[in-house]
Amino acid sequence: MSLADRIAELEAEVAQAAAATAEEVERFRVAMLGRKGAVTALFDAFKEMSAEDKKALGRRMNELKQAAQARWEEMKAGTTRQGAAPVQQGDPTRPVATEQTGGLHPITLVRQRIVRVFERLGYTVSQGPEVEDDHHNFGALNFPPEHPARDMQDTFFVESPEGLALRTHTSSVQVRVMEHQEPPIRTISPGRVYRNEAISARAHCMFHQVEGLYVDKGVSFAELKGTLDHFAKSLFGPEVAIRLRPSYFPFTEPSAEVDMSCTICGGDGCAVCKQSGWVEIMGCGMVDPAVLANCGIDPEVYSGFAFGMGVERIAQLLYRVPDLRLYWENDVRFLAQFSDGSFRN
Ligand code: PHE
Repeated sequence: MSLADRIAELEAEVAQAAAATAEEVERFRVAMLGRKGAVTALFDAFKEMSAEDKKALGRRMNELKQAAQARWEEMKAGTTRQGAAPVQQGDPTRPVATEQTGGLHPITLVRQRIVRVFERLGYTVSQGPEVEDDHHNFGALNFPPEHPARDMQDTFFVESPEGLALRTHTSSVQVRVMEHQEPPIRTISPGRVYRNEAISARAHCMFHQVEGLYVDKGVSFAELKGTLDHFAKSLFGPEVAIRLRPSYFPFTEPSAEVDMSCTICGGDGCAVCKQSGWVEIMGCGMVDPAVLANCGIDPEVYSGFAFGMGVERIAQLLYRVPDLRLYWENDVRFLAQFSDGSFRN
């Protein structure tokens, strides 16, 4: 190989040199510029050359040596890769991003959506105490003392002479509203409720409800069904349907469970709806005349409907949450999925 060819070969090698690590940079230096490196060897050979060759190639060799040196400096600074665009190394001294945006909890988000649907229909929002007396949680709602219906809701009792308990549903709030307000009454009561249940993927000892109540002259079961159909379509989309199955609650007569066509499979049958095509979303019924009377409302003049749903259940269907316990663990990997950036510090 002629000296000129060898120079051309090394020129190409230098131009294409790349290094990802400090070791590779050093390997380049040794191979080119080290005491036994290729460029150094070229200069050794140079000394033996004819004056004519020296004149012809000397300048090119100096340029090659400078190019190899410059390449080495560049690679040392970690800025070259295949001689192309600089590699982004990042600045380790840059301050870390401290502004993390939080988000509302999925239960809060869903509660707000449920409340908004009923507010648009003219419902007010009522609140009441979580530690409740027997009268408001049970008695006024037609649960006679010692009646087995109380077993439907496993109660956490509070040691107290008045027999207080953690409310098992927010129907207690509606009793308070009926006691203090003349019909027409149109109100919903969102809130936390407690039941002594073993904690599992499908049950928890506390959860959130939104219960609704409408009392006026001539309120009918058809209006109840229309209201709940509107609610389901507002939240889940116009294609969902509801159906009512006869059921029993001490405070409503007749009573029904409300099923909605499964939003996961569209009604064809899947694991979520246990192949039935329907998922249960709430309980409802016409307020029992005895309950109206207990709260000082004349059942001969007024009638009403009531319904109650679990917010966790609705959120589970909206967001496909597989395990109820996720709502309580405050794992940011779960919570961050609901953050829409609308809540900032
Ligand atoms: N209070 C019932 C419950 O906690 C729900 C319900 C409310 C049912 C109103 C019918 C009417 O399960």
